Amino acid sequence: MVFESINRKELWKQQAFFSGAWKDAASGKTIQVTDPATGQILGSVPALGKAETFDAIETSKKAFVDWSSRPAKERSLLIRSWSDLMRKNREDLAVIMTLEQGKPLSEARSEIDYASSFLEWFAEEGKRTYGDIVPSHRKDTKIEVLKHPVGVCGILTPWNFPSSMITRKAGAALAAGCTVISKPSELTPFSALALVALAQEAGIPDGVFQVLTGYPEEIANVLIDHNDVKKISFTGSTRVGKSIMERSSKTLKRLSLELGGNAPFLVFDDADLEAAVKGAILSKFRNAGQTCVCANRFLVQDGIYEDFIGLFSESVSKLKTGNGFDPDVTIGPLINEAAIEKMEGYVEDALQNGGQLLLGGKRLPEKTLFFSPTLISNVSENSLCFREEIFGPIAPVYRFESFEEGIRAANSTPSGLAAYAYTNDYKKMRILSERIESGILGINEGLISSEQVPFGGIKESGFGREGSKYGIHEYLQVKYVCIGGF
Ligand code: SIN
Repeated sequence: MVFESINRKELWKQQAFFSGAWKDAASGKTIQVTDPATGQILGSVPALGKAETFDAIETSKKAFVDWSSRPAKERSLLIRSWSDLMRKNREDLAVIMTLEQGKPLSEARSEIDYASSFLEWFAEEGKRTYGDIVPSHRKDTKIEVLKHPVGVCGILTPWNFPSSMITRKAGAALAAGCTVISKPSELTPFSALALVALAQEAGIPDGVFQVLTGYPEEIANVLIDHNDVKKISFTGSTRVGKSIMERSSKTLKRLSLELGGNAPFLVFDDADLEAAVKGAILSKFRNAGQTCVCANRFLVQDGIYEDFIGLFSESVSKLKTGNGFDPDVTIGPLINEAAIEKMEGYVEDALQNGGQLLLGGKRLPEKTLFFSPTLISNVSENSLCFREEIFGPIAPVYRFESFEEGIRAANSTPSGLAAYAYTNDYKKMRILSERIESGILGINEGLISSEQVPFGGIKESGFGREGSKYGIHEYLQVKYVCIGGF
């Protein structure tokens, strides 16, 4: 059944790729993967263990010797050709993603474009990892600053963006001259396996990009603990990010942590109402709200509050929930039962804390993973959905009076990934740029992701930047060389 919709069957892999071959787990154990829209079992992937992870690290270490010593242009051409193959196989990759992750097919197609853009971008950036010549402090020495690839990298990625979170990390790492072991989420491994199949078609050597499927305890912990793995890049929750940081202290590993957010979406009295609502829909409901940079809390000023609620609820009521293969659907299923229960808990808690349910609020239909787009007004700052990352299609709206109060409420969170603000006053824009505590700020714009920009957070949303000219530096180390005897 699954195969019918995929043109190139060879992209649908049910084995992992490591140590030079497609393999099953030595234990014979597998993990079943289900379609969240239908509950249908799509297939299974190996549940690899510690021994296979050690093998992959050894392979990666050997491959690093050759890969890191190749001219940047040679690496660039291979990464570029990987990107081209992603575009060529866009439809199959998008179908695989919708099958295992559930997002609408149009969003999956956009994610494939987004994912391949990181490979294209870093194929170029890899040619520009310049060092420096520094004027010396002494007559008899010359000083150089060199950039070297850090070595074997472990990249740990989530289920919400099954392709782009991998290429955003792997593109930068490979272009810098590092080798990569990718551990995708066990909920969405097929997109990662299709990527490695295309990497091979592009001519990327076997040990340079490997994908290990299985549970985090068996794979991620080995990568984190191992002395030969020099860097871990993780996208996921703040809770797991903290434990990775703690665990990494034993080997003082380089880390990039792209962790959870709690994005405020500020709408000031002078905002363009229609633009604000359009941005709110895009930002909140992309990927059914399962995005780290999703608007989490709508903070709306008194004077525009009623109008915003009116137009926002009109727009939310037009969203269509259902199977991502239905062309009219704008919101797919949530990833699992735990996510549904979390949404139910947020709604109940918000209403107990004085919130008013305007739309949605429940799973529809029963026994599925679809949660209806939900709008709650008069939400209080005590509500869990105000304080925590929702990661689902619930839009809580909070009312504030003054500009200062808006800024205070926006910053009243330990998270600092993305924030959004709508105003037509340039002075306010400048002040917000300085005072909003986030790594990313969208002003009069709800869609802020692309390969050219530095993506990443501050505060408990982690550190490190992905994409842009900064992204490659996460995979490079600086060496200062002093040459004496002149
Ligand atoms: C994320 O949710 O972490 C990724 C979202 C994006 O890149 O836009």
